[in-house]
Amino acid sequence: MTNSRQTEQLNMFAQEKLDKLESLQRRRVLHPTERGMASSAMRDGHMVLSFCDNDYLGLSQHPRVIAAAGASAIRHGAGSGGSRLICGDSPLNHELESLISQIKGMEATRLFGSGYLANIALAPALVGRGDIIVMDELSHACMHAGATLSGAEIRVFRHNDVDHARSLLVDNRPEGSRALLMTETVFSMDGDLAPLEALGELCDAHDAWMMTDDAHGFGIIKQANPAPIQMGTLSKAAGVYGGYVSGPAKLMDLFITRARPFVFHTGLPPQVLGAAIESLKVMRDEPQLAQAAMNNARNFCRIVGLPDPQSTIVPVIIGGEEETMALMQKLLDAGYHVAGIRPPTVPVGTSRLRVTFSAAHEEEDVVGLAETLRSLLNEIRTDMQVV
Ligand SMILES: Cc1ncc(COP(=O)(O)O)c(C=O)c1O
Repeated sequence: MTNSRQTEQLNMFAQEKLDKLESLQRRRVLHPTERGMASSAMRDGHMVLSFCDNDYLGLSQHPRVIAAAGASAIRHGAGSGGSRLICGDSPLNHELESLISQIKGMEATRLFGSGYLANIALAPALVGRGDIIVMDELSHACMHAGATLSGAEIRVFRHNDVDHARSLLVDNRPEGSRALLMTETVFSMDGDLAPLEALGELCDAHDAWMMTDDAHGFGIIKQANPAPIQMGTLSKAAGVYGGYVSGPAKLMDLFITRARPFVFHTGLPPQVLGAAIESLKVMRDEPQLAQAAMNNARNFCRIVGLPDPQSTIVPVIIGGEEETMALMQKLLDAGYHVAGIRPPTVPVGTSRLRVTFSAAHEEEDVVGLAETLRSLLNEIRTDMQVV
């Protein structure tokens, strides 16, 4: 029997917080969603087309990937049984790590339970008190979490502003400190790309290590990337689950002992490893999938009148939180599920629809969404003029 007084207190504590969030329109709720083929999904009992997932190549539904998940579970079991250091080091881990290293052209790779865990692991294994981390302001929450855990001084540069990054790297740098520069390759909420070459030169010139988060670029965007440490996830274009860090072989070896989310975490389950291996093979065998996803994003932007996209993520900035969520609801009513994104995920006043494109979308669906959104945006503009 649990303690009823504590249960009551905890419920009261939570209710107060939930009421406050509700009044700020920031309370988040879950919507049961059953995903299917060709970006279809049953959400709250209604069929919709998903333009909000990160399954950019449609690989979560690919028959080869699904079959590999089943076969791996039958061959190796449903769970890994423990941390990789104790008994959970299935050979599938090594196969997947080698495949990722090959694809990325890196010396070695270490797998993690998720991309979030990879980012929590990374900074604390490289820098600590007395060191500095210089990071892009739009870096993902888990990069900030990892940076904070490291104990290093965190200096945040304006988005993609190389000059600002330079001054943060150089000014008042503690004597003998290590410096880690962190950025994303493709920004998750804006879909734009980082100036990787310029940031790489900056790190070379000022004795800093560079790390990139390639969560939204992996499998889609081929950019020259000078960063010697490249983190990513298998949960987006790869369509499965799990995170990784690729980098120098000795550093990846050190992670086995020093990256805490690696040491104190159960290994990925065999069906996830098997599915991810097959998914990377499909990526290699079917390069046209990435092209198809990008073409869908381009087509959408052309119809809505937005600039050409740099990735499969297209932000439609609305501004206010209420207007954004109302627009999202209207699109849902029309059968299109796009994500309404608001603070604290994005800065106040930049609430937006985050529209994502996949190789699994049919052209007519992309056109249908674009035309529906264009006319809803026209209605909003007309209303604003009337006011
Ligand atoms: C830029 C970025 N990094 C890391 C992550 C975390 O990856 P995962 O979902 O595999 O934990 C995400 C996921 O939302 C992301 O967008």
